[in-house]
Amino acid sequence: MSTALIVLAAGQGTRMNSDLPKVLHPLAGAPLVAHAIRSGAGLEPARIVVVTGHGGDQVEAALKTWAPEAETTRQSEQLGTGHAVLQAKEALTGFEGDAVVLYGDSPFIGEGTFASMAEARANGADLVVLGFRPKDPARYGRLIVEDSQLARIVEFKDANDAERAVDLCNSGVMMMRAGAMFEHLGQVNNDNAAGEYYLTDIVALARAAGQTVRVVEGSEAEMQGIDTRVALARAEAQFQAAARAQALEDGVGLVSPETVIFSHDTVLGRDAIIEQNVVFGPGVTVESGAHIRAFSHIEGAHVSSGAIVGPFARLRPGAELGGDVRVGNFVEIKNATLDEGAKVNHLSYVGDAHVGAAANLGAGTVTCNYDGVMKHHTHIGAGAFIGSSTMLVAPISVGDDAMTASGSVIT
Ligand code: UD1
Ligand code: MG
Repeated sequence: MSTALIVLAAGQGTRMNSDLPKVLHPLAGAPLVAHAIRSGAGLEPARIVVVTGHGGDQVEAALKTWAPEAETTRQSEQLGTGHAVLQAKEALTGFEGDAVVLYGDSPFIGEGTFASMAEARANGADLVVLGFRPKDPARYGRLIVEDSQLARIVEFKDANDAERAVDLCNSGVMMMRAGAMFEHLGQVNNDNAAGEYYLTDIVALARAAGQTVRVVEGSEAEMQGIDTRVALARAEAQFQAAARAQALEDGVGLVSPETVIFSHDTVLGRDAIIEQNVVFGPGVTVESGAHIRAFSHIEGAHVSSGAIVGPFARLRPGAELGGDVRVGNFVEIKNATLDEGAKVNHLSYVGDAHVGAAANLGAGTVTCNYDGVMKHHTHIGAGAFIGSSTMLVAPISVGDDAMTASGSVIT
């Protein structure tokens, strides 16, 4: 059965108190909506339709980077979750598979949870609702089970005291054949306390049509939606804690785990050693056995086995460090390849460059890559010796085994 994810991301997110649309707030360097989409990746969705609204232009632009496979549809007025899902109907005309509705601000739902929902569908449930039992059910919609089947969902605002006493709550995630879901949504009205078209009303409609409705339960931790900056900060801490635990389990040496900051996509090899206060931006791979020393900031970089980086080093996008390379304190590397055994140990800038194997760059070496208008390339041959405080004015090429004297300006 093929699957289409329908990701609701039209809400304003008033409580973030921000000009940035809520679903674009970053968690571990990636927008919330990218995490939400990725949470459903285990279902191998054939289609992904994101419903945008508030900040729609910004959200759609971000999706081009973060989830280029996603299609978008605009909900110009936010009339409720049911109305939001209906905005995907046209895009999914003729789609024969299942629709899975999820929220763009809920980054943590686990692969196993979606798999359980798919299993319930495979076992004959027409509609599967993801429920959970939060410590404080607060204002969540309540799942009303009668005769061991889900009979309906009652929103908190519409619920009576007996219904509010129910502790089984609606996460918002649902799974059903897309055609059937849209058919039911066509029947939903806004005659309720919020004056909204509730997605949750399709449960009672499905039951009235004689369909089977099942609840799959997940954990409270994975259901949390991010509505406030406090919740976002808590989610970041949760993500970081999980990333550190996973790294330790994978055999990475974290000297002081709670001080290392991961990105959503950080890849660290077994026996890599990461010292205190290292920050990983997006796009980093550190191979097995490399050593990142304290207070280094690393993004968009690849560090090979045996390399030692830092303390206080900065690797920027396009830094490619070969085996046993040394990058020392107060050195910045950007868009540059350092071949095996090259050394840049102190106070240097190497940008838009290729440094050959075993070349040695003395303290204070600078590749002067920018002429005020254009960036230019520097080539340093294998085994070259660059004297301290050499200014290499690019474009420039230094041959293999060549030497420059201290304080040279090479043009
Ligand atoms: C919804 C559920 C509730 C559930 C809760 C879980 C309904 C009617 N209620 O309530 O049962 O317990 O989520 O968090 O579904 N959105 C749009 N367009 C709209 C309305 C909402 O895109 O017109 C998006 C929002 O941006 C948000 C999500 O849908 O990401 C949920 O909307 P929200 O208003 O937070 O629903 P709740 O009232 O919390
Ligand atoms: Mg909500």
